[in-house]
Amino acid sequence: MRTFIAIDIPMELREKIYSAFDNERQRIKGVKWVEKENLHITLKFLGEIEEEKVKEIGKILDEVSNKFKSFEVSLGELGGFPQLKNPRVLWIGVSPSEKIEEIFNFIEERVERIGIEKEERKFHPHITVARIKERKGVSFENKKFNDKFKANRIVLFKSDLRPEGPIYTQIKEVKLKDG
Ligand code: 2AM
Repeated sequence: MRTFIAIDIPMELREKIYSAFDNERQRIKGVKWVEKENLHITLKFLGEIEEEKVKEIGKILDEVSNKFKSFEVSLGELGGFPQLKNPRVLWIGVSPSEKIEEIFNFIEERVERIGIEKEERKFHPHITVARIKERKGVSFENKKFNDKFKANRIVLFKSDLRPEGPIYTQIKEVKLKDG
C-alpha cells in the first residue's frame, strides 16, 4: 500500500485554509484543490510498503510519541512551485521548521533501518493546497496566513489514488507529549 507519515492539522484550521481559497476555486479552472479533509504536513512519504512493514512503522511512531513533545506550528505565506506565477503546486509554508525537521530526521533514520529509502531532496515542511496539471499561465496572489496550531498528532496514512483525487485513510495515530 501507498503510505506517508504526516502532522495532522486540526479540523477548524483545515476549514479555514480551505475557505481562504474559495474565491480562487470559483475563479480559476483546471486546478486540483486539496480537499479540506486531506490537508496535512507530510513528514515522510514512504511510498509503496508491504503490509508487514506497517507494524514496524507503528513501532517507530510509538517511539516518536515517547521522544517528542508537542509544539506550536505557525503558518506562513503562500508559495508556488516553482513560483506563484504559473505554478505546478501551491503550498503554505510552516515554521519553525527545526522542530519538524528533528522529527523528520528521527523518522528518516528509523525507517531507513527497515529498508525505506532516504529522501534525496531537502525537507521543506509545507501544506500543499493545490496542484495544477495543465499549466496555462494562471498566477496566484500572495497570501499570508497568521494562524498557529499545536502539532500533537502524528499520523500514518494510507493513500488510495483515484482520478477524482486521493483518499487518505488513517492507519495509525500517535500523540506527542504535552509540550
Ligand atoms: P506534496 O504535498 O508536497 O505533494 C501524499 O502524497 C503526501 O506525500 C503529499 O503531501 C506529498 O507531498 C508527499 N510526498 C512526498 N514525496 C512524494 C512522492 N515522491 N510522491 C508522492 N507524494 C509525495
